[in-house]
Amino acid sequence: MSDWSHCFHFGVSLANQAAEIILTSFQKQKAVKLKSSPADLVTETDQRVETFLISAIRTQFPNHRFIGEESVAAGEALELTDTPTWIIDPIDGTVNFVHRFPFVAVSIAFAVNKQTEFGVVYSCVENKLFCAQRGRGAFLNGEPLHVSGQEDISRCVIVTEIGPERDDLALSTMTSNIYRLLRLPVHGVRALGTAAVDMCQVAVGGADAYFHVGLHCWDIAASAIIVQEAGGVVIDTNGLHFDMMSRRVIAASSASVAQRIADVIQVFPCRRDDEDPYSSVCGDAGACENKHV
Ligand code: IPD
Ligand code: CA
Repeated sequence: MSDWSHCFHFGVSLANQAAEIILTSFQKQKAVKLKSSPADLVTETDQRVETFLISAIRTQFPNHRFIGEESVAAGEALELTDTPTWIIDPIDGTVNFVHRFPFVAVSIAFAVNKQTEFGVVYSCVENKLFCAQRGRGAFLNGEPLHVSGQEDISRCVIVTEIGPERDDLALSTMTSNIYRLLRLPVHGVRALGTAAVDMCQVAVGGADAYFHVGLHCWDIAASAIIVQEAGGVVIDTNGLHFDMMSRRVIAASSASVAQRIADVIQVFPCRRDDEDPYSSVCGDAGACENKHV
């Protein structure tokens, strides 16, 4: 097994520097541009942080590749190959950042041969740095962390989001999923506005599961390995293997909770990240029960 620790430590130090840039701007008024929908935002800080991260990594590791949210938005190809690849979300929770809602994170994952080797999620305002290297456990500010281990869905706090999609099918599917979960019942449904921090809540045991459809690989690659290394389970919403390019994820404290959520929720169709990253809902297909997707 290769040792990518030197890259991991470099990634952690860059996350700290990126967090400083984000925090400097957090309280300020931001100029906002729209991307794929009126709720899909980008600021100058998103772009500045991504440029900083990629240029610092490229100087150190000139042969590595990148998938960065804002680079893809600017037209770069979104392709995960076997080459060592840094998968970067410079600010996960941009709507929060714009509104000063205090959950924003920089998310950095590193994959080799399409397998994630490590992930770093720094929730800047909370000053919580979550990280994990494959096979070496997960940590929050240096302390080992573990999922809750909850197996009973009726005792779960579930985190999910209403994402940036605003078409009828996506909205009705997302809101109906919340209804379906509350009817099980579960203890509660929560949303922090950042997939990376939502999933880290599962890793640290504050929530028992997270699910979402319509995400991109930069939103979830780092936090997925953190959940797995914290003893959790990460699967596709169809109940099969997690694929960071599929735009669908369930992260849970146990296999039984993950499977129960997969059985209950519906999904709306999304093109895979490696097909077209900014085409979120395709055609006029209806919402599907997961077992049919
Ligand atoms: C968003 C957040 C949000 C999720 C959206 C993502 P961004 O990422 O992770 O929680 O619901 O689907 O797009 O745009 O803030 O990086
Ligand atoms: Ca982002």
